[in-house]
Amino acid sequence: MSPEAGRPRSGRIPLRVRRAPVPWERQAPTWREAKPGLITEALKRAQSRPSGNWYVIGASRDLPPRKALGVTVGSTEVVAWRDRGGKLRTGPGACPHLGAPLRDSPVRCGTLVCHWHGLVLDGEPFAGWEPYPAFDDGVLLWVRLDRMGGEPPSERPYVPARPRARDAVEAVYSGVGRCEPEDVVANRLDPWHGAWFHPYSFVDLTVTGTPADSPADDAGFTVDVSFKVAGRLVVPVRARFTAPDPRTVVMHIVEGEGAGSVVETHATPIAPDEQGKPRTAVTEALVAASDRRGFAVARAAAPLLRPLMRATAGRLWRDDLAYAERRWELRDSGTFPG
Ligand code: FES
Ligand SMILES: [Fe+2]
Repeated sequence: MSPEAGRPRSGRIPLRVRRAPVPWERQAPTWREAKPGLITEALKRAQSRPSGNWYVIGASRDLPPRKALGVTVGSTEVVAWRDRGGKLRTGPGACPHLGAPLRDSPVRCGTLVCHWHGLVLDGEPFAGWEPYPAFDDGVLLWVRLDRMGGEPPSERPYVPARPRARDAVEAVYSGVGRCEPEDVVANRLDPWHGAWFHPYSFVDLTVTGTPADSPADDAGFTVDVSFKVAGRLVVPVRARFTAPDPRTVVMHIVEGEGAGSVVETHATPIAPDEQGKPRTAVTEALVAASDRRGFAVARAAAPLLRPLMRATAGRLWRDDLAYAERRWELRDSGTFPG
């Protein structure tokens, strides 16, 4: 083995070569540390935090000026579009005249024109149609549904701190699972499954801090983990997971390559499936930052990087949605062991 093994290969590239890779089945089991009660407590704490009744409904980038977006949050049908100034407008998804689905209506000069009889909405109250408060944080779109949320409303959603847009490359992954938002959040509050369940992406995972270690300030979970790049090449980082509101889990890279990068997972309840099973939309914003000079090149290549970032998240979420769906099934049948 080369003397460089296990160390950064150069000052410029943060890759390390794993010294003696451990076969998957020989890595240390994590189930003893991953106490169901610890995860349940972290979930309960998340659920006790305010959301201000805000729900993520999509990615800012996915709503161009002349398009309407339709989404059903819980049982509330919502339509969203951009007005002339590019500002996000949202409101009930049924036309106040005879109920046409406004998601299928075209946007003309910043107004939504109902395709059944031509009623025009500019985003202000009209003919019984009352808008919902909306917010575009530059990466994600939010709607505030007070009747559904039932909490004291807040002026703005609680958007996690992110790297500045001009220093970052951002991508948004969207997926849907047959489960409730809490199942998605619980999956993210179980960092111990990383290297076992996603061995294609993570190795050498150790949870070095849990909320039980510092319950007062709830620093969340701290995880030392290596991202697999290729073969034995890995990028080691330290990450922290926190749940700032009942439907959001944020992972901050606090040390290592990409320190300052953020992965925000938002779980939004959407319309149930044909059998009445609950469904949850997962919207994950990946905001990658780096102080490396090479990152300027990465920013320039952002349109190429975005699909790659989304594909990586998509692979992880195939498994994580299976985890969340399984958790819901067991909860639904009253056999969940946690
Ligand atoms: S249903 Fe929309 S204008 Fe008649
Ligand atoms: Fe996972």
